[in-house]
Amino acid sequence: MAQKKRIVVKGGTVVNPGAVAPADVAIVDGLVVEVGQGLDGDDVLDATGCHVSSGFVDLHTHLREPGKEEAETIETGSRAAALGGYTAVVAMPNTDPAQDSVMVVEFVREQGRRAGLVDVHPAGCITVGRAGTALAPYASLAAAGVRIFTDDGNGVQDPLLMRRALEYARDLGVTLAQHCEVSRLTEGAVMHEGSCCSAMGVPGWPALAEELMLHRDIELVRLTGAPMHFLHLSTAGSVELVRRAKADGLPVTAEVTPHHLALDHELLAGWDPVFKVNPPLRTRGDIEALKQGVADGTIDAVATDHAPHAAHAKELPLDQAPPGMLGLETALGVLVTAVAPAPERLCELMSWNPARIAGIDDRHGRPVAPGEPANIAVWDTSEVWTVSRHALASRSTNTPYHGMELRGRNRHTIHDGRVVVRDRKALA
Ligand code: DOR
Repeated sequence: MAQKKRIVVKGGTVVNPGAVAPADVAIVDGLVVEVGQGLDGDDVLDATGCHVSSGFVDLHTHLREPGKEEAETIETGSRAAALGGYTAVVAMPNTDPAQDSVMVVEFVREQGRRAGLVDVHPAGCITVGRAGTALAPYASLAAAGVRIFTDDGNGVQDPLLMRRALEYARDLGVTLAQHCEVSRLTEGAVMHEGSCCSAMGVPGWPALAEELMLHRDIELVRLTGAPMHFLHLSTAGSVELVRRAKADGLPVTAEVTPHHLALDHELLAGWDPVFKVNPPLRTRGDIEALKQGVADGTIDAVATDHAPHAAHAKELPLDQAPPGMLGLETALGVLVTAVAPAPERLCELMSWNPARIAGIDDRHGRPVAPGEPANIAVWDTSEVWTVSRHALASRSTNTPYHGMELRGRNRHTIHDGRVVVRDRKALA
């Protein structure tokens, strides 16, 4: 029998819950087999100066396939994810056709498998076609392995439909994830409703549109007992609502994006659509409140909302350009630069908590320990690098960080025991 190759990640600091310590990590046949000092192997990855942890898990990735392959494919998005240190992503269902049937969900999963760079876990829709009128077939989607459902891009407006959705989700043991936006309050909105949008004379997206739906859904969680995850929260009021819901013991979780922690609405003053995103960039005060929520545990996860758009669409005038920005390759750097969490907290936000929320903590967000699946990221919080939109693996270039200096970068990624990123370069 052929000898099995032994990969060793050497010279790094291993981050596990309650334990951050220097150690080498040996991997054979898809599993961590040894964690200790002075290990050697057939393929040695240098981790000097790096942290070694379970791979990151993105709760919020738009891969665009099927339907918008000119912006991203499952393969190009997977490559961007692997470069960012991710070993699993939740693929948002606002594809065309939408991920509201077993057929589409299985297509997405299979394309993910073919790319072979990260695990691609398709989210299902809450409503058929994300149209907000009829519930998607949860039972068959859950039976096909879907663990998280969302109409992301749209909030579910109808409170009765949302109540029923939560009741079904509770009984099936799956989680609903809400994009909180009362659409009547955001019609025509281009950016945050505040001083900057008034000066520019464009319609604004008020904080209330997010907070109203969040408040309604927290009350529906209280009524139904179903768990619920809140996507891309952006306002100080939202952080406070989640903080109170958690204090009441409700089963809610919340994510924030790197861009809402780092960028504010005044960037829109130059009319550049690269800064247009939904929910919009908010005020410095909102950013501080989000950071406080990250620090005190109100916010469970950092999720990218990686939203590639082809140049011909994104480079339209501000009012016509679609919202969204790239995030997978820059998330770690933006988080470290803007917040600098301690390594253990960083792993909670980027790996351990999102794996649990996505229902994939059997293979992801695991301790780096013998017998565990080898889904691992090796990252350097001191590396300073300059983002270039031309150097990203994504098929689109709509990064708001072009030309910006970030601190913190992923160096190697191991997915399912295979080195898929080595020294910041992805496998072809
Ligand atoms: O900015 C955004 N872009 N927010 C969303 O909720 C959807 C996303 C997209 O699909 O482009």
